[in-house]
Amino acid sequence: MEHLIDIKSISKEDILNIIKIAKEFKTGTRKSQVQGKTLSLMFYENSTRTRCSFEMAAKKSGMNVINFDAEHSSISKGESFKDTVENLYFLGVDAVVIRHSLSGIINNVLKLVKYPIKFINGGDGTHAHPSQALLDFYTMLEKINTVENKKIVIVGDIRHSRVAKSNIMLLSEFGADLHVVSPSYMEFENYDSFKVKYHKDLKEGIKDADVIMVLRVQNERLEKEGYPDSIEYKRLYELDTNIIKEYASKNVILMHPGPVNRNMEISSELLDNDMGKTILEQAQNGVYVRMAILDMLLSKGGNR
Ligand code: CP
Repeated sequence: MEHLIDIKSISKEDILNIIKIAKEFKTGTRKSQVQGKTLSLMFYENSTRTRCSFEMAAKKSGMNVINFDAEHSSISKGESFKDTVENLYFLGVDAVVIRHSLSGIINNVLKLVKYPIKFINGGDGTHAHPSQALLDFYTMLEKINTVENKKIVIVGDIRHSRVAKSNIMLLSEFGADLHVVSPSYMEFENYDSFKVKYHKDLKEGIKDADVIMVLRVQNERLEKEGYPDSIEYKRLYELDTNIIKEYASKNVILMHPGPVNRNMEISSELLDNDMGKTILEQAQNGVYVRMAILDMLLSKGGNR
């Protein structure tokens, strides 16, 4: 694995290796191989989990962290992204995590940069969020051992969700019985290529589900497209304890990448009961999965 840009550019073997290494870090049976390396966090979009989790992962691995201040950087004076990253490399940075609102920008910059700095996609536009899909996969395996033939239902704004797209790609590789639930204005056009079953009706979609992954309603993106009534969305798609009890399987796992809009896509009461704890465990697992990603990308080759 040279970089982590999206799920389709890494192999099944890489994915399983990341899961294995993350488990070793979580159980304390592995020592980091990347002490003394430097990670820069380049976040052009807001983030709590991804940014703090990569910072925590790097620090637990004995790395140095440079929090690149996108707003006050020399990019505002016209410096290109390529020149910025190349300068960071010569300052001693070994890898960058980039979050950006433009889909595909990380891959474009990667092609221009001439030096061997590692790129990690921390979420680009509506394209991909691979470290999130990897930590989601890790959490599912921890809870239900395998995703093969398990009914995994993704609910919400699939069209704008880089998390959903990365998860669909990864989970279909591992044989999950994939379903999505969304209104037509949040639909994604490529279901057929991943054998995903589409439902408009929440109750029908979550019937006998083993895992329900709820997505955040992305008001900031939908508003630009004339977002329909939020009260109507809540009425049709909000998950609460009653719906889960009545329709999903008894031991269903409730997941959400965060941040959650309480009482919009999940009721506050459901979020605060035992079932909501998995969402916090996803965030916790993210640290170990990101330690594994840093280990895979940076452990070969000595310090510069
Ligand atoms: N899941 C996720 O990407 O959360 P943040 O936007 O807080 O990083």
